[in-house]
Amino acid sequence: MSTSLRKLAALVWLAHYTYAIPQASTTLATTSVPTVIISTSVPSPTVPLNSLVPSQAVLPPVQPWCIGQIFCPGQLLQIVNLAQPYSDAKTIVDKPTSKSSQQVLADFAAFNLSTLTEGNIVNLLDNDFLGEGSRTPGCSITGIQC
Ligand SMILES: *[C@@H]1O[C@H](CO)[C@@H](O)[C@H](O)[C@H]1NC(C)=O
Repeated sequence: MSTSLRKLAALVWLAHYTYAIPQASTTLATTSVPTVIISTSVPSPTVPLNSLVPSQAVLPPVQPWCIGQIFCPGQLLQIVNLAQPYSDAKTIVDKPTSKSSQQVLADFAAFNLSTLTEGNIVNLLDNDFLGEGSRTPGCSITGIQC
């Protein structure tokens, strides 16, 4: 393995280590900032876009300790999971919204749930959500990656 490859491997390892264990960042403060590659899952439903999303089961109970109506157990999360737009059901919770939560909820509320199609959900994911793990706009806490 060439020296530059080994350096790259070390940097990748270091970036992963820094990311996984943020408490250790004080000892790593002098290293250069690694480039974080953001992946974005493209919705790839296994059913046609015009097929109806299966009707909902009973909604889960509200969890008072979970704040928000998008990423907490509730109607939006349940319907996205019923639509199965991604091969991994957990993908959605890694995606920050690209709009305010009020706007995302308003876009979702505009759907007629009895005629909701797979394509409606794919459009919502494309228009209102960003790539997994990417930053949400307006996050400006110094020294905090959010
Ligand atoms: C939703 O769609 C159904 C079936 O087409 C229709 O009967 C119903 O009135 C619609 N609801 C709203 C709120 O538009």
